[in-house]
Amino acid sequence: MKRFTLGILAILILAQCNPPTAKKNHMVSREVITDSAMVVCARTEASKIGIKILKEGGNAFDAMIATSFALAVSYPFAGNIAGGGFMVYQTRDGKTGTLDFREKAPLAASRNMYLDSHGNVIKGASTLGGLSVGVPGTIDGLFQVYKKFGTLPFDSLIQPAIDLAKKGVVVTKKQAERINHYRKYFAMENGLTIPLDKDWKAGDTIKYPQLAKTLERIRDNGRKEFYEGETADMLVSYLKKHGGIITKKDLAQYQAKWRKAIVFDYKDARIISMPPPSSGGVCIAEILNAIEPFPVATNGHNTTKYIQLLTEAERRAFADRDYFLGDADYVKMPIDTLISPAYARRRMANFSWKHATPSSEIAHGDINGFHESMETTHFSIVDKFGNAVSVTTTLNGAYGSKLYVPEGGFFLNNEMDDFSSKPGTPNQFGLIGGEANSIQPGKRMLSSMSPTIIDRKGKLYMVLGSPGGSTIITSVVQTFLNVYEFNMTMQQAVDAPRFHMQWLPDDIQMEPGRFSLSLQDSLHKLGYTIDTTNAPVIGKVDAILIMPDGKLEGGADYRGDDKSVGY
Ligand code: GLY
Repeated sequence: MKRFTLGILAILILAQCNPPTAKKNHMVSREVITDSAMVVCARTEASKIGIKILKEGGNAFDAMIATSFALAVSYPFAGNIAGGGFMVYQTRDGKTGTLDFREKAPLAASRNMYLDSHGNVIKGASTLGGLSVGVPGTIDGLFQVYKKFGTLPFDSLIQPAIDLAKKGVVVTKKQAERINHYRKYFAMENGLTIPLDKDWKAGDTIKYPQLAKTLERIRDNGRKEFYEGETADMLVSYLKKHGGIITKKDLAQYQAKWRKAIVFDYKDARIISMPPPSSGGVCIAEILNAIEPFPVATNGHNTTKYIQLLTEAERRAFADRDYFLGDADYVKMPIDTLISPAYARRRMANFSWKHATPSSEIAHGDINGFHESMETTHFSIVDKFGNAVSVTTTLNGAYGSKLYVPEGGFFLNNEMDDFSSKPGTPNQFGLIGGEANSIQPGKRMLSSMSPTIIDRKGKLYMVLGSPGGSTIITSVVQTFLNVYEFNMTMQQAVDAPRFHMQWLPDDIQMEPGRFSLSLQDSLHKLGYTIDTTNAPVIGKVDAILIMPDGKLEGGADYRGDDKSVGY
């Protein structure tokens, strides 16, 4: 169902996108350049709230908290209080780090919890209903950010989201399409009518009174409200009715973790990205290290040679991802080797311009499938002081598990599906996963989320990230290269056509209608299989470029309702 859902969603979104021929003027008019500060995220309302905080003297971390709460209200598709995510930051004095507020497997979770008595994966068990829900990390994450970096009163950071929830959010055309597509699951999973389960039309206003009350309790009672208070009671008892296994103990024990960033150089750029339990930073390092010795820009943008080079680097990086990576607290991983240029060069030793390398020759396995979902959200912030934050959060599926705690007014994630339900073999969606990402109580599931910050010649250069499951990694790589190697503006780089390869399935996914048939034909002749028919939307990047004169240029992805706001 998930693959089908992705395909439908892709069609829904792409149907509303401008055709490539009309893009150029469209892009130019959308470019936003400001002097001091910027927030780029999935909804105008949330970008404006982030900027309001920055104008009031808050820093990027204050704005991160306010924007996250605002996305939980205005973008319930992926914004959340009962999901998880990652933040990569760089402070004005150049200190870097990351916060992991990824969900965890409940203490009662077990390796074979999604298998039947024959050892087969039970359809839907890890994506829908109570068992699919991981212990949420978002609220602990936001409070940890506040404790370490916050400067304005916490009340002032959460209050705009409370006001927005009470006042209501105007439905966009894209949002109406998405809600109407997913409505049937809301009723099916909850067994009752939830507020989103109506024939919402563009221009309608949706109010979120229950969520407003939950946010007020969080404002008044702090972190404890979500993990030990009334909200925790609501969450646990609702989940129990729907077959969930998360207990108050799971919630009380949850802790976000500060982790050292993955840092590596590509030519004169220094890339700072997310370490495990995200695969993002490691894969981006492997891909960029692999292409660095080759001519990149001289091949031309999105030419046969460019796509071939990137595809072969991606193929090798994803093969390693699926085998080696998992939660650093549970598995040993050869990270230093994986991100070293010498290793990437060894991996590219059998690369040939003359033909594709079959994925079966790169690693074992003969598997079709598509890993992870795309219903995640990213935002980028730079403040006037020079601090930068890059944040990606997720419920995993669209509206997560579709389970909606009615008294609390929020959706629950279905992040458990990011574990390997049955390591080493494909599950019912064709997903492959390694032993390193098997289910264990308290373990974090492997992610592809890649919030990233890039410096150049010692100065902040770019802040970027994307939703899109495994396509996050390849979207971030292409967007960076579009600016760095091909001199595009930030907005052009975000809007440019994207492609994706992830080892298995052994094909190149391309955004439909955005790559010429002759280009596809030339790749086909080299042995590549192209999939434009059921390709998901490949990423939805929100980025900020710091231009040579110090001004900020936003790149808000036209594939969604995303918006750059700055001053
Ligand atoms: N749930 C998507 C990811 O974490 O990569």
